[in-house]
Amino acid sequence: MSPGKPKFYLTTPIYYTNGLPHIGHTYSTIVCDTIRRYKRMRGYDVVMTTGTDEHGVNVERSAKKASVPESEFVAKMAAEWKALWDELGVQGDEFIRTTDLKHAHTVQWLFKQCRDNGFVYPGHYTGQYCIFDNAYVDVKPGENCPDCGRPTETVTEANFYFKLSAFQRPLLDWYAKHPDFIQPESRRNEVLSFVEGGLRDLSITRTSVRWGIPVPGEEPHVFYVWFDALTAYLSAVGGPQYEKRGFWPADVHLVGKEIIRFHAVYWPAFLMAAGLPLPKQIWAHGWLLMDSAKMSKSLGNVVRPRPIVHVLGMDALRYYLLRETVFGQDGNFSYDALVTRYNSDLANGLGNLASRVLTMIEQHLRGIAPGKPSAAEDARDERIIDLRRETILQTCQHYDRFEFSRALEAIWRLMAEVDKYLVETKPWVQVKAPGSYGQFVTTIYTAYQALREAVILAHPILPSATQKIWKQMGQTEELSTLDIHLDWPPMANAHIGKIEAVFPRIEKAEAIERMESMEKEEQKQPSQVTAPTPASAPTTGGAAAAAAPAAAEKIGLEDFAKVEMRVGQIKTAERIVGADKLLKLTVDIGTEIRQICAGIAQYYEPEKLIGRRVAVVVNLAPRKLRGVESNGMIIAAAVGPEGRPVLAGFPDEDVEIGARLK
Ligand code: MSP
Repeated sequence: MSPGKPKFYLTTPIYYTNGLPHIGHTYSTIVCDTIRRYKRMRGYDVVMTTGTDEHGVNVERSAKKASVPESEFVAKMAAEWKALWDELGVQGDEFIRTTDLKHAHTVQWLFKQCRDNGFVYPGHYTGQYCIFDNAYVDVKPGENCPDCGRPTETVTEANFYFKLSAFQRPLLDWYAKHPDFIQPESRRNEVLSFVEGGLRDLSITRTSVRWGIPVPGEEPHVFYVWFDALTAYLSAVGGPQYEKRGFWPADVHLVGKEIIRFHAVYWPAFLMAAGLPLPKQIWAHGWLLMDSAKMSKSLGNVVRPRPIVHVLGMDALRYYLLRETVFGQDGNFSYDALVTRYNSDLANGLGNLASRVLTMIEQHLRGIAPGKPSAAEDARDERIIDLRRETILQTCQHYDRFEFSRALEAIWRLMAEVDKYLVETKPWVQVKAPGSYGQFVTTIYTAYQALREAVILAHPILPSATQKIWKQMGQTEELSTLDIHLDWPPMANAHIGKIEAVFPRIEKAEAIERMESMEKEEQKQPSQVTAPTPASAPTTGGAAAAAAPAAAEKIGLEDFAKVEMRVGQIKTAERIVGADKLLKLTVDIGTEIRQICAGIAQYYEPEKLIGRRVAVVVNLAPRKLRGVESNGMIIAAAVGPEGRPVLAGFPDEDVEIGARLK
């Protein structure tokens, strides 16, 4: 907690653990992470909560299917979700699991408050229950769930009811007094008409479910998953002692539109019943669609985030999701649009502008960015200066209203104008023309300052790439620690760093092919999504990671003879965008030239490998590594505790290419 700073608390929904994340879930989390980063840069003390929703029949059934206890099942799934958020650069401050003890205590405490205040009573309920949505639905026996279309089950059980009906008036009054409570407007109207239509009491415990938080003294009752899950928002910031941390009430609960009712009706009613403050805003975003349908596991149309991150980088995914969809509305996902955006906006847009400006500084200003203009600014320079100010204002306004695509539009407009400005002022001519060197310095100064602003403003959405550009610009501080405000002083003379393409251009068909094939690999082996990459295996490429036979197990000569190893010569070697550890090699094996991927990128410079003779397993079945075809395996020793690969070679003699190793 930072004293003196205003506090800001925002939450993602907590995710069900009976499946793994797809980019629909990723969208909710990335949006929250962006808001969190932005608010930090506006001087707020921010807490962002995310986590996993681990109870209920679905988990009970999935664990049974996997033949493991529920606790083991959810622990593994929660770790997967957490690992993914880390890979995506998401900075959650609290990761709450509904199986945490502190959470169970909060749920039990909240129930007691509601009960002590007279809003809970025992009863029985018979109804049609949708197991997938964890909700009773208003249909006849034999009919399917109106929300997800799955079959419903008739359930009769003893339970405790929450007097939701008592909150119709208080809720309507609350909505009227707080017109911004539910966003966007369309969702607010939907909730208003639902509540105006009358509220029925809600069963908040179950006796037909075992895997849940027990209701103290009322076993076998366990809490209804939504009573349990919603309370996670409170447990994350102190539970019964929430006042100590000072983050409750939450500023924003960010949710998908299908769960608005739970958040805008049930949750405020539970809190009112317990006498607790209500969150300030519930913001419902739209769905990510694939082939015009909501992306979801049951429809089988999901896209996983990892292949995209491996091929294009996490910033590309973050950019695409926030740029392409108007926040609050549904948006379509397509690999084609993703790669098009990557090449046009990131590689040609931000990446190109940065390398253009920095290269001129390197070539003509001994690598030192000018700290002030050298000649008086003319109308063209002034235009950029005005636009910089305007862009900061507009972008912040858009961020404040969660208009992410418009925030990005404003930043990209500034960059497009700077590009145009460079074309018009022609600094490469100014630098050589007699008497215009001062003007050249002013041009570069103006472009550099504008680039600085674009990078700072884009940081909440592109945290990794902007930090890299920032370093190349010669800046040392962490971008996330900077405050966004209108009147930044000019940057002092900075020594620019090594210029490297942050978004290398990528061939569309190849990128899509790689992402799609990785997607297929993940679907085949969902539990191995975090398996070590080939670089950590003793041999490189091909089936390198296959388990070695147990030490005592011997093989006969005939087994060894099955492995065909030959001398190969490396013809070309290049890095693979999005796969830090792999090199793509072409290797002459005497009879043909093969493409082989090797996990040696962190230890061997590609240029230095050309011409080198290596030992190659040539009769391995081809496979794809990070979506790139690999047809063979290069042999290397794994040295030291980290298994550093050292290529096997032939230093004594100039061996013939294609010679067999026996
Ligand atoms: N566990 C509940 C939430 C409890 S919050 C107290 C839940 N979990 S979920 O895993 O099904 O969904 C979590 C979030 O992911 C929701 O906000 C949901 O809208 C979002 N998405 C899941 N699929 C989505 C898309 N295809 N598109 C956008 N977001 C979607 O509901």
